[in-house]
Amino acid sequence: RQNERESLLIVLNFAKTFFQETMRTTDEGKSIGLSYFRERGFTNPTIDAFELGYTLDQWDALLKEGQRRGYSRDLLEKAGLILIKDGTAGGEKKVFDRFRGRVMFPIHNVSGRVIAFGARILKVDKNQPKYLNSPETTVYHKSQVLYGIFQAKQAIRQEDVCYLTEGYTDVISLHQAGIKNVVASSGTSLTTEQIRLISRFTPNVTILYDGDAAGIKAALRGLDMVLEEGLNLKLLLLPDGEDPDSYVHKVGADAFKTYIREHSQDFIDFKASQWLTEAGDNPLKRAEGISDVCASITRIPDPLKRQTLSQRVAQVFHVSEQSVISEINRLLRKQQ
Ligand code: UTP
Ligand code: MN
Ligand code: MN
Ligand code: MN
Ligand code: MN
Repeated sequence: RQNERESLLIVLNFAKTFFQETMRTTDEGKSIGLSYFRERGFTNPTIDAFELGYTLDQWDALLKEGQRRGYSRDLLEKAGLILIKDGTAGGEKKVFDRFRGRVMFPIHNVSGRVIAFGARILKVDKNQPKYLNSPETTVYHKSQVLYGIFQAKQAIRQEDVCYLTEGYTDVISLHQAGIKNVVASSGTSLTTEQIRLISRFTPNVTILYDGDAAGIKAALRGLDMVLEEGLNLKLLLLPDGEDPDSYVHKVGADAFKTYIREHSQDFIDFKASQWLTEAGDNPLKRAEGISDVCASITRIPDPLKRQTLSQRVAQVFHVSEQSVISEINRLLRKQQ
């Protein structure tokens, strides 16, 4: 078991190095892969820090090199690097690279070892996914992993807050802008295991999601999970149509930091502003909003914290604290 894990980590490291070499030394790698990262504004130190690479637009570039180095098909497949498909009508099996003609984002575990890859297509079209990711393997359980945690952990401790973004390039671009306490849930909706991973380094999380409908929805889902784990939570959305990557390139590092400072909200204000925009003067909608905020408060394990927060809800919605407390108690009873 231990042996298989170690073999997988070794072959994944080989693949990472191969993708880096491909980008640095082949014509295709330089003119397509490296140029792509350049156009996105990534510098060499950034490309090195995240060990970015490129995979040739061929069926078996990695397979061939892997086998030449003595890695078996079986191991390459178990690492999620190649696919083995049965041939039609008893014909020969088809064996080929999973990732072809894409820029490669290695995914590291907390100690910096490569456990998987995200692979971005160069030109987005609707026939293929924009990002292709490694499958679950013995060493990669995507619900337990946060992209960028290895590069971010020291800064998360130092700054005593972790910024949680949606995507690979959000992490990379903020890191390059000097904001290094950033990770991404990368396509999966946030999980309890991911939140516990953050809590090893700080009790403070700021959700920094894309300013679109999907981002708001994901933030609302993530919110309750973070509260349940007893962490302190702030949230902010980027302006509509922006993500942290696009926005930091647009306005620069200082303005980005100012934006975070000025737009971070606690979860009560965040939820209230969503509800109050929607509800206007409609008293039923407002009541629904209050109940929804109270529902999030019931997630918080610490009764003392719950009590303090009920005062805030009362202020924000202009209702009595007593009515908020009884709503929280009603919801708590219902959950038992
Ligand atoms: P986004 O669609 O916001 O992509 O998805 P992005 O990170 O801004 O990517 P760029 O800037 O176009 O390169 C957020 C994250 O969701 C996952 C990836 O981890 C991505 O970074 N995702 C997205 C996938 O896994 N597969 C997809 O097809 C799309
Ligand atoms: Mn698993
Ligand atoms: Mn998005
Ligand atoms: Mn995005
Ligand atoms: Mn983006």
